[in-house]
Amino acid sequence: MTADELRKKYLQFFVEKGHQEISSANLVPENDPTALFINSGMHPLVPYLLGQPHPLGKRLTSIQKCIRTADIEEVGDSVHLTFFEMLGNWSLGDYFKKEAINWSFEFLTNPKWLGLDPQKIYVSVFEGDPEMGVVLDEESIAIWQEVFKKVGIKAQVGERIFAYPKEKNWWGPAGQTGPSGPDTEMFYDTGKSHNLRFGKKCHPNCECGKFVEIWNDVFMEFNKTPQGKFIPLPQKNVDTGLGLERELMILQGKESIYETELFQNIIFKIEEISGKLHAQSQYQRAIRIIADHLRSAAFIIADGVLPSNKEQGSVLRRLIRRSLRFGRQLGILELFCGEVAKVVIADYQKVYPELESYKEKIVEVLIEEENKFAKTIDIGLREWEKLVSKKSKNISGKESFYLYETFGFPLEIIEELAKEKKIKIDVNEFQEEYNKHQQASRQGAAKRFSGGLADHSEATTKLHTATHLLQQSLRLVLGTHVHQAGSNITAERLRFDFTQDRKLTEEEIKKVEALVNEKIKENLAVSFAVKTLAEAKKEGALAFFGEKYQDKVKIYTIGSFSKEVCGGPHVDFTGHLGSFKIKKEEAAASGVRRIYATLN
Ligand code: ALA
Repeated sequence: MTADELRKKYLQFFVEKGHQEISSANLVPENDPTALFINSGMHPLVPYLLGQPHPLGKRLTSIQKCIRTADIEEVGDSVHLTFFEMLGNWSLGDYFKKEAINWSFEFLTNPKWLGLDPQKIYVSVFEGDPEMGVVLDEESIAIWQEVFKKVGIKAQVGERIFAYPKEKNWWGPAGQTGPSGPDTEMFYDTGKSHNLRFGKKCHPNCECGKFVEIWNDVFMEFNKTPQGKFIPLPQKNVDTGLGLERELMILQGKESIYETELFQNIIFKIEEISGKLHAQSQYQRAIRIIADHLRSAAFIIADGVLPSNKEQGSVLRRLIRRSLRFGRQLGILELFCGEVAKVVIADYQKVYPELESYKEKIVEVLIEEENKFAKTIDIGLREWEKLVSKKSKNISGKESFYLYETFGFPLEIIEELAKEKKIKIDVNEFQEEYNKHQQASRQGAAKRFSGGLADHSEATTKLHTATHLLQQSLRLVLGTHVHQAGSNITAERLRFDFTQDRKLTEEEIKKVEALVNEKIKENLAVSFAVKTLAEAKKEGALAFFGEKYQDKVKIYTIGSFSKEVCGGPHVDFTGHLGSFKIKKEEAAASGVRRIYATLN
């Protein structure tokens, strides 16, 4: 089965079970300031899991682009990735455990769908947690026993069904607050023999590699508050997720995700440039890291992020720089990131047309960042070698800080190099040095972080409505060539990218600001209607988010001033917004300007 067949089959299966297909959201969350990237299929659906009605109904299915960087150091093994596609299906207060589990099993084992051998499927459930006030998930155990019984398997707890604590069987929230709940996970037995190094007895969550997790059904009944409490949601939801790459690896009987066709051309390109082979074990990790990181980078840039020292931009920068350093390890001295990205774009553009639309931008950004960092990495590596040859086993924090401060050589790279050579670095001392230099900006960051997680949702809702007012005002002041090119909201500010090829004058900025404030004063009503995208466009609603043409969408209107396709949420009346101020106007990319603005 190819990746394309798997994507199609999954969606078809859940459409047949009454689900509506929705498009992947942008990788940058629009309404969750507690997370840098969308990390799961449920993430863009948070408002609906919390109870807001979805225009397409209560059963949804999608393939969502996801970024998870927590495991970045694991990338290079057989299953970890920073970018992946998540297949998912949702019940928004509709079906619950019984249907979810039965359908998961049917899709995995029925020969019409994936046809996996039921004997090789093992499952886990939540064992309960008195502190959270949640008990062992006996309901799921009973459902699983029924399901296995139908295929002649006696599913005993401790043999086929395993109960684990919250570290393993509780999912969410996606950011720091929001919907979450206990889950049941499905594992595939690869048939490898257990490695005793990982314990006496093997089990689904054993690290030895015999079992691979293939699907997670979350029963989202709780909302995690900013105070860390789990309170029951008004509706019981189901949220499921399977990683496309892992699923494919299993279906194709491959040893790693890098051996599926999803990575074939990318790895071939890296082999061609470096003259080293994935099959050569000493080069395998570096080749995999480059393949993973540049695939992620291409998708992140296509979704409007540029390399920088903060937020999403710093993650992108880290991915590119890490690629470069592992490129050097393979002996690559020429520019290569853009060349590898071109293969990513060619392979994925049919499924993700945004890669094709931003093709030139992606290559240009990579080349620029690579050029910027190439000197640093070369000087840094040289200085590092000097230091190592002088000092051998221990490198002080001061010395590593010197590399960082003088040559801009990132600590994480210094640490990785040290690990490879089994050299100790005094990270605490590095941190002390670093702190001395960073007092001011650290205080700033701490202040920002303590800035009241509690009123996040209210603050972001207001800024979201202000974003609509801003877009319409920009169109009135500058012209209808202005289109949203990106939007990001934190509790403190909105950031809005729009198509416009020159800087705004002081006077234009004043005019836009005044117009937004005028509309706030008028206390206009904000309301929405549900229509098809075609109807919305016919009515002249602004729509810039790559919804599919047949999708039903929400159209938000603000008085008679603005009409936009958008998921919400918004305030009811603009009078709630307070006073609008543009803080900064700058270039975001060629032909794209960026505005930062606040409400007070
Ligand atoms: N949200 C769940 C996960 O990401 C399905 O595993």
